[in-house]
Amino acid sequence: MTTLLNIQIEQIANIQIAAYIFASILFILSLSGLSSQETAKKGVIYGVIGMLIAISSAFLGGTINGIPFIIIAIVIASIIGIIVARKVEMTAMPQLIALLHSFVGLAAILVGFSSYFDTGAEIHDAAEKSIHLVEIFIGIFIGGITFTGSIIAWGKLTEKIGSKPFIFKGKDMLNIVLLLASIVLCVLFVGSEGMDGKLYLFIATAIALFFGVMMVMAIGGADMPVVISMLNSTSGWTASALGFMLGNNLLIITGALVGSSGAILSIIMCNAMNRSFFSVITGGFGLEVKTGKKIEGKVTSITAEEAIELLKDSQSVIIVPGYGMAVAKAQYPVFELVEKLRKKGKLVRFGIHPVAGRLPGHMNVLLAEANVPYDIVLEMDEINPDLPETDLVLVIGANDTVSPGAQDDPSSPIYGMPVIEAWKAAKVIVMKRSMAVGYAGVDNPLFYKDNTEMLYGDAKATLNKLVAGIE
Ligand code: TAP
Repeated sequence: MTTLLNIQIEQIANIQIAAYIFASILFILSLSGLSSQETAKKGVIYGVIGMLIAISSAFLGGTINGIPFIIIAIVIASIIGIIVARKVEMTAMPQLIALLHSFVGLAAILVGFSSYFDTGAEIHDAAEKSIHLVEIFIGIFIGGITFTGSIIAWGKLTEKIGSKPFIFKGKDMLNIVLLLASIVLCVLFVGSEGMDGKLYLFIATAIALFFGVMMVMAIGGADMPVVISMLNSTSGWTASALGFMLGNNLLIITGALVGSSGAILSIIMCNAMNRSFFSVITGGFGLEVKTGKKIEGKVTSITAEEAIELLKDSQSVIIVPGYGMAVAKAQYPVFELVEKLRKKGKLVRFGIHPVAGRLPGHMNVLLAEANVPYDIVLEMDEINPDLPETDLVLVIGANDTVSPGAQDDPSSPIYGMPVIEAWKAAKVIVMKRSMAVGYAGVDNPLFYKDNTEMLYGDAKATLNKLVAGIE
């Protein structure tokens, strides 16, 4: 009887391992699917199936107690998730993601502490015990940084906290001292007996929570996108650390996938924006606060009717969308305008900046939603060489990403960030509601150029007028 039971337990364990491997493969396929617009939908489906397999196979093996409670929690969480996902505006997606990352951090802290205080799981082998304590320490530490860092990122993205970097004298020194103190605390924690190390763990948790706040408070303006992708990465490493603590291979693999893809994305973004990866991940190490110089000159504006005439006279048009297009939900009239202009035989293309909007790929998603063909949507590096030969650039709610200050004002907070060189076209029309600044909080010299005309108003309302005016 016992032998039969043992065989059954072994078989279930094998099924669980196979299911975990299958789910891991689906997660890898999901990531590769998400790398292009054409395959993104498939990528999401792979991810959902992988997650369903992962959750259901976690129940196998009979080591989990209180399954009914877990199922109730999953049902409640799923209902909340569906409601939030359906309600969230595309423009509020980054802050939602930041908030979700904070949950991963919080989960790591809670699992870490419960794993430490779980007296039932006493480990007798000294080496194994030390490894387990290191896993707990690292898991809680990364989780703490992710938790508070993500909450501050959420605050900055929702504009509840100013986007300007918070930097004070001695900040870098303080960070170094705290980092060294954390290493000492880790050594003391691992070397302590029984529950004697709990004080070290509490202090290290407080340091990690403080680190998270300091790290993201110190970053602002053009570097925020990198912070968000970096927090995505730390949430992955946190999940991996949780996997080690709980002895769950799938969590280790999934966490490593998220952690490394987030880290790769952060490096790509830093390279694309000419930012130091080290400075960004260390909470603005060596960074100074910059405000940009005062711009002299005259701003001129035109009416929708005048803009229609300019569009009619132009043979080549490049549209540069930004955050304002997302706010106004103007992607649909943009598509109508593009169709009308193309029917008139004009060359119409889009120029997409890598950090236009508030999340990577924000503009691409909106344009795809409005059925804009992919082949006329070009990346910044592809479109920039064509700008000097372009008749008209239509900037729709973009600001920082088309600012010449990024190239010629070393005192600008976005100095060094590659931008779409809209001012090189023969004529530029900027559609926005006022002279207000963009995310980085700095004036844009483009608006003062002789070949630039401002077209004030909500992007959607203005585009509707343009669409109606082009016959
Ligand atoms: P921004 O520089 O943020 O400028 C957006 C402009 O849109 C504003 O100046 C605003 O001017 C205008 N606007 C807002 N609502 C509008 C509406 N209804 N109709 C027309 N215009 C409207 O945008 P960007 O050029 O896309 O640059 C993105 C910025 O966000 C960068 O600084 C980037 O670093 C940062 N950021 C990006 C990300 C990612 S990953 N993409 C994440 C976090 C931060 P008015 O108020 O005058 O209309």
